[in-house]
Amino acid sequence: MLLKEPEAVYRIVKAVRDAVPAHLPVSAKIRLGYDDKALYLENAQAVYQAGANELAVHARTKREGYRPPAHWDYVDAIRRALPIPVTANGEIWDRQDALTCAQVSGCDSLMVGRGAISLPNLANVMKTGCAHMSWAEALRLMVSYTEQDLAGEKADYYPSRIKQWFSYLKREYPQADLLFTDIRILKSAEEIRSRLLQESDSHP
Ligand SMILES: Cc1cc2nc3c(=O)[nH]c(=O)nc-3n(C[C@H](O)[C@H](O)[C@H](O)COP(=O)(O)O)c2cc1C
Repeated sequence: MLLKEPEAVYRIVKAVRDAVPAHLPVSAKIRLGYDDKALYLENAQAVYQAGANELAVHARTKREGYRPPAHWDYVDAIRRALPIPVTANGEIWDRQDALTCAQVSGCDSLMVGRGAISLPNLANVMKTGCAHMSWAEALRLMVSYTEQDLAGEKADYYPSRIKQWFSYLKREYPQADLLFTDIRILKSAEEIRSRLLQESDSHP
């Protein structure tokens, strides 16, 4: 909603900048607007004028939700208008998307959201062109995540978190879809953990 009021964006970023010690950077992240993109440059300017050191832009409006495409060309216009580093975000799922996004936005800094939980080594894939993480490695990562999450303070959230992760992994790994049909109906963390361990052991 704040994207409808660049003045408010300015006041918020300014308050944060004033509160944070000068030697620490302040970054902000915005979408291109709420209903439409009319104020995208005003909002970006407000962030800069308020003293932010960096800006990341999810290249869609709130109304556009997560529907493709992301409008990376708008990030280019923002990058050209502001003297601070601008990071492009939205709809990067693989190396080709990253290359296209970098080219269209002119940004050398890219941010990934859902792509990073669909393909856990996406950042390296983007940077180096290395192979996509295998399903066996992804399983080991899920097991390691499971152990860490269950040892932490938010263990109660584990079943819903791991299920949410599966919903993204399915995009990259057809095997995740199959395993999820088993896991979806499990309620307790321990049941999910055992099923994951069993699956991981069968993919050495
Ligand atoms: C599980 C999840 C959690 C997110 N949490 C935040 C958040 O705390 N703050 C934020 O600015 N954006 C958050 N986002 C949005 C992402 O940073 C990103 O802007 C958005 O997903 C678009 O990028 P993508 O197309 O690469 O997913 C989240 C996205 C996902 C999928």
